[in-house]
Amino acid sequence: MTHRHRLLLVNGPNLNLLGTREPEVYGTVTLADIEKLATVTAAEHGLDVRAVQSNHEGVLIDEIHNARNDCCGIVINPGALTHTSIAIADALSAVNLPVAEVHLSNIHRREPFRHHSYVSAVAEMVVAGAGPEGYAAAVRYLAQGHTP
Ligand code: DQA
Repeated sequence: MTHRHRLLLVNGPNLNLLGTREPEVYGTVTLADIEKLATVTAAEHGLDVRAVQSNHEGVLIDEIHNARNDCCGIVINPGALTHTSIAIADALSAVNLPVAEVHLSNIHRREPFRHHSYVSAVAEMVVAGAGPEGYAAAVRYLAQGHTP
């Protein structure tokens, strides 16, 4: 059944370890906290959220494909796949939904290999360096473009 009041929230490799992973870079907020923030923010706009996290590129691609059936937008933090995966970028293009790309850290202030994102070329908006609040901003952005 088509359900166009839903956002897909995708978190990629290693983001399941948020809270303990390099807290000096990523902070101490957990993935569960981030999923809750996104869900609460979406609810303020009449949207719900399906949150997925995987360490496996193919699983993420399958989840992006599934969004075609019941979502009106995708918020994605692809983790390191940001910088390597043409396949994730192609999947996002293929489903033809608005995409908001999120990075907890400011990738442009870090190592040069983090400066390029394949996903940015297919994203409507990008937020980097705002911490967890970036997810809320991404949700609000997609909610504004949403026509009920
Ligand atoms: C990240 C930045 C990436 O470079 C890194 O590989 C991550 C997290 C971020 O949220 O800042 O896993 O996407």
